[in-house]
Amino acid sequence: MSMLQELNPSLRTLMTPGPVEAEPRVLRAMTIPIIGQFDPEFLRIMDETMELLRQLFQTENHWAYSVDGTSRSGIEAVLCSIIEPGDKVLVPIFGRFGHLLAEIAYRCGADVTKMECEWGTAFDQEKIIAEIKRVSPKVVALVHGETSTGIMQPLDGIGKFCRENDVLFVVDGVATIGGTDFKTDEWNIDAVITGTQKCLGVPTGMAPITYNDRVEKILLERRKIEQGLDISSSNPRRIQSNYFDLSQIQEYWSPKRLNHHTEATTMLYALREGLRIIHEEGLQNRFDRHKLHEKALVEGLKAMGLSLFGDPRYKMPIVTCINIPEGVNGDAVRFTMVKEFGVEIASTFGSLAGKIWRIGSMGFSCRKENIFRVLSALEAAIYRHGGKVNAGAAVQAALDVYEESTLAVSIK
Ligand SMILES: Cc1ncc(COP(=O)(O)O)c(C=O)c1O
Repeated sequence: MSMLQELNPSLRTLMTPGPVEAEPRVLRAMTIPIIGQFDPEFLRIMDETMELLRQLFQTENHWAYSVDGTSRSGIEAVLCSIIEPGDKVLVPIFGRFGHLLAEIAYRCGADVTKMECEWGTAFDQEKIIAEIKRVSPKVVALVHGETSTGIMQPLDGIGKFCRENDVLFVVDGVATIGGTDFKTDEWNIDAVITGTQKCLGVPTGMAPITYNDRVEKILLERRKIEQGLDISSSNPRRIQSNYFDLSQIQEYWSPKRLNHHTEATTMLYALREGLRIIHEEGLQNRFDRHKLHEKALVEGLKAMGLSLFGDPRYKMPIVTCINIPEGVNGDAVRFTMVKEFGVEIASTFGSLAGKIWRIGSMGFSCRKENIFRVLSALEAAIYRHGGKVNAGAAVQAALDVYEESTLAVSIK
């Protein structure tokens, strides 16, 4: 094999619903030298990260830490740690990632009931509550922000009903947390999973989670540690997965520091720095920033002559889905945007593939210059591929939004 060149990928403007651009401070934190995972300095970093995660999740829960792996590792860890074979699980589905929750629950041996609504809209909470009454599940597993359709599901009423009726409520907040309000405790959510590579502005590879004492009780009942660490440990209800066994992982994150896995040192540095940035910005300022850039993006798209996909009442403020105009090849447009402008947007999955584009405005990617870049590149690429656009109107409409906003001066 001939000598390979040093890695030097092009700089891109990432406007997909993940991964997005990583905060430069986060990337710098990732170059910090490795220290041992039981070094007192590293243990302090773990404790500080737990505290920052509690603030992010808006929770008083003791347990808030990260699972090593992409966001679905956190989902799988939570579900396989609480579901035992035969347990009833209700999964309301309004896009691709609801199907993922059902799929994981099936693989845990659950008796899964799915309910579905049309992609592009969300559930009326009362409908889910009626289904909970009918099914009497142990767990309801639900996505908050469906990146596949750009839709966000209201959760507060479902959480309240679940708590009053002793049902566990697990939420995939992978795409929303850090970009829009998410109140773990106030909405009565028992376990939440998020992702690093979206609104946290950190590379992919960790799944922060939080859960309360209702979940912890189940973990303690199912606790079994590896026999190499304790030869007498046994439990017929043990969690099927070793890697995703939260009863062991929480002991690693406790003062016991159980030697479960070798922590991903560099990713933890990255997560801590990403969370520190969020703490400095303040959650409400951060949500306001995402709303402002969403408004500029949406006004720009409309001025260009494009229509948005999905029920506007439930639109995610951090993902915007656009109907691909008749006669325009959506993939050709995206390809031109990357190749000629270095700007990436996304297509989608399943029955919507080829019908919509998805633009993410998340975390560090959610900046004024990126909104202008994506609008300009999209306009030029559609025109290049034979589509009709109101040339020049999009950027002007976005400029109007920024000029009219009192926030614009105080944010990035
Ligand atoms: C809502 C949602 N849930 C789960 C996932 C899975 O995340 P990951 O690819 O990090 O495992 C994604 C990824 O896009 C997502 O958007």
